[in-house]
Amino acid sequence: MRAGFSFSLPAFATGGNRGPLRKRNRVENDDGFDAIYAAIARSPAYRAAARELAHPLPEWVIPFSSMTATDAYRICAIPIGEDETLVDLGCGTGGAALWIAGLLQASVVGVDTSRAAIASACALAVELGRSERTRFEVADASTTGLADESVALAISFDALMFMRAGPVVKEVARILRPGGFFAFTVAEWISDDRAPIPTVERAYAPLLEENGLAVIQEMTLDPDRGLPLYRGLLARETELRAEMGPPAEMLLSQAREHLERAGRRRIRDVFFIARRPKESAR
Ligand SMILES: C[S@@+](CC[C@H](N)C(=O)[O-])C[C@H]1O[C@@H](n2cnc3c(N)ncnc32)[C@H](O)[C@@H]1O
Repeated sequence: MRAGFSFSLPAFATGGNRGPLRKRNRVENDDGFDAIYAAIARSPAYRAAARELAHPLPEWVIPFSSMTATDAYRICAIPIGEDETLVDLGCGTGGAALWIAGLLQASVVGVDTSRAAIASACALAVELGRSERTRFEVADASTTGLADESVALAISFDALMFMRAGPVVKEVARILRPGGFFAFTVAEWISDDRAPIPTVERAYAPLLEENGLAVIQEMTLDPDRGLPLYRGLLARETELRAEMGPPAEMLLSQAREHLERAGRRRIRDVFFIARRPKESAR
C-alpha cells in the first residue's frame, strides 16, 4: 500500500519466497504478498476499512493500496480507442483493472507475482462474467510475455516501488504501441534516511524519459489520502486479528506508524501519465 504501508511491507513481504511458476517467465513469487492477499480474502473487516478509503469505488474493487476512484477516473479520461488492450502491472486482486477496462471498453491483462492475488483476480473476473476479454497471470512485470506494441494503456497502482523499475519501464516501452500511455501511481523516496525497501526510486520521471516515454503529467498526490484507511484499520483491530491472523499485525503496526509519522513525510506519492511518442523508432 502507499505511504507508510509500502515501506515496511517488504520486511514482512520478503519472508519466504520462491515458487516454480511458468516456464516462459520464471517469477520470484513473494510469500509476503501472498500471505496478505490470502488474509484479505478472508477478512470482511479489511474490506470495510478499504471502503472508507476507496469510496466510491465499486464494492468489488478491493485495493491493497491507496488507490482512489479519482485516480481511476483520471485514467479513464485518457483517450484510447475501443477494443484496445489495457495491462495492469502489479494488479493485486484485479478489481481496479477490471473496473477501468470496463469503463474504457478495453480488454484487460493483469500481471502480479503473487499467486494468491492472481487467484482472487481470476475468481473476480468469473464472478463478474468478464472472463472473456480478461487475462490475469502470475508474472513479473518486467517480463509480461506480451507482444511488442500490443498495448494501448499500461496502468499500475502503488506497485512500481516494489519492482526493479528500470526493467519494468523498459518492458512498458516495448509493449506500448506508438502513441500508447503509461499511467500509474507510485511513491518516491524523498528522505535522507535509508529507504527500507531497495527498489524504491527517488524519482521516476528520468527512468521514463530514458526509455523514450514522454512525461505528460506528473502530479503530487495528497499525502493524507490514506489516513481514513489507517484509522479504519485501527478501529477494527479485534476483527482484523481474528479474521486475518498474523498479517493483521503488520497492517496495524503500519497504520499506527503512518498516523504517527503524518507531517514528517519520507515519501512523495505521485501520479504519472507518460506516453510513447506516435513516431517513436525502436
Ligand atoms: C501495494 S500492492 C498494490 C496492488 C494493486 N495495484 C492495488 O492497488 O491493490 C503491490 C503489488 O505489486 C506486486 N508486485 C511486486 N513486485 C512485482 C513484480 N516484480 N512484478 C509484478 N508484480 C509485482 C505485489 O505482489 C503486489 O500485489
